[in-house]
Amino acid sequence: MATSRDNGIKLQWSTKNDIDRLCSAMEPVFQPPDEKIDFVTYLVRDQYKRWALGESSFMTPEDTVFATDTNTKDDKIVAFTTLWKDKQLYNGIGFSIGRVEFVGVVSEYRNQGLMPRIMDAVHEASDLRGDLMQTIVGIPYYYRQFDYEYALDIGKRSKTWLNSIPSLKSGEKELTTLRAATLEDLDIILNFDQVLSLQSCNYAPLRREYLETQIKGSINSTASPFQRRVVMFEDDGHAIGYFIMHNYADSSAISVLHIAFKPNINLPTIINSILRGIVQYSSRSYDEKSGENLTAIFWHFSEWHPFFNSLPSCNRSYTSLPDEAYSTYVRIPNYANFIRHIIPVLNDRLANAKSWSCYNGVLYIHNYTKKYMGVRIQIDGGHVSKVEDWFPTDRQQPVSNQIHFPPLTFTNILLGNKSLEELQIVYPDIAVSDLTAQLVNVLFPKSVSINHNWV
Ligand SMILES: CC(C)(COP(=O)(O)OP(=O)(O)OC[C@H]1O[C@@H](n2cnc3c(N)ncnc32)[C@H](O)[C@@H]1OP(=O)(O)O)[C@@H](O)C(=O)NCCC(=O)NCCS
Repeated sequence: MATSRDNGIKLQWSTKNDIDRLCSAMEPVFQPPDEKIDFVTYLVRDQYKRWALGESSFMTPEDTVFATDTNTKDDKIVAFTTLWKDKQLYNGIGFSIGRVEFVGVVSEYRNQGLMPRIMDAVHEASDLRGDLMQTIVGIPYYYRQFDYEYALDIGKRSKTWLNSIPSLKSGEKELTTLRAATLEDLDIILNFDQVLSLQSCNYAPLRREYLETQIKGSINSTASPFQRRVVMFEDDGHAIGYFIMHNYADSSAISVLHIAFKPNINLPTIINSILRGIVQYSSRSYDEKSGENLTAIFWHFSEWHPFFNSLPSCNRSYTSLPDEAYSTYVRIPNYANFIRHIIPVLNDRLANAKSWSCYNGVLYIHNYTKKYMGVRIQIDGGHVSKVEDWFPTDRQQPVSNQIHFPPLTFTNILLGNKSLEELQIVYPDIAVSDLTAQLVNVLFPKSVSINHNWV
């Protein structure tokens, strides 16, 4: 693990013995000046501590990297971040990713370039263990300097005003009932989540261990008021869906972080019962006073979630949500490694695009500079046979089937987040012939991804 010293600043990876000290260093960094937000205290002292000690299996006690000032008494902790290990799917093909969370520098030590050193250590560790990408959500622009690009859009958020939800007509009965999830629901919830993953190019599947701890917290009456709750929808005693909610984004709103249903459910016919159920269930979960203040449901997940296909337009208002970005930053350290991993998807796409199903040729992806290594993709008989790093030996030498991308912009094409046509409007230096553009569109079409941040 990386350890380095510079001007008395020492970088190191944590051990179990550092976690309490790290909590004390983190909390003031994330608290706004002259204010104490209870949720921040919970996030650091409860959530970070549990996660760092292994709960939910995102990280181990050794996965926080931090800098200390050895010129101070007790080697003060002055900067830190954590590296989580998570899983992501690309059209169903799984791979491990590094998630970077809890980024901070103690105020007197800012603007000294400590975070760039920490990020180097994080990327080195993540690349070394074979993660095909790293993701971060947060500070606008800042992470671009560490080779991140916004490439997993969540899109516009939506809310439902409670006064737009029709009341139950007299004599009618609700078509769904709600109850707290129990550990016996784990598999069924993961199956519902899988239904979503099948409709999504990129997908972060719910993590069993995380879900388990959230369910235990939901049914624990002494859990923190910030605890997420996992709730089941039932029809005649059978589970048909579930959602995860919390209540701290805004005290006037119910925040739904995630929702999924059994396949073959006709959601439009039960949508009003679903909406009323969420309101009634969450009102009961809040104390009476805050329940009275509720005005809206915030939907925290992707604009393209299939749930919205069933939500009548009069119940959906586009909105921004507190502290939530419209897109996730992605760093792909080596494009060739990533593409090699998803070859079966590329072969399916070639086979489905009939006129390319027997294609023989090579596609060259050129990112203009060696700093962002290009890729050579060889296709034989409609199958990708070789993917390797590539950079032209002579820039002047014409290469057929070549596409130029300004650094990092290819990430959006690779993940299907944007179409080539959309990117070309913004980047005139995406240089490509018409024929090569057709091949790129076949291999990397714009695709729907249901992105969300359920943690
Ligand atoms: C954001 C934070 C980590 C930046 O650390 P820092 O030590 O102040 O800044 P760095 O030394 O890393 O700055 C490197 C570069 O980023 C720029 N930068 C710093 N903060 C930035 C911000 N918030 N947005 C955009 N750019 C920023 C700097 O100007 C510098 O650019 P330059 O080299 O062109 O001058 C630090 O301000 C912080 O801890 N903030 C509070 C905690 C927080 O918000 N964490 C994120 C939520 S998890």
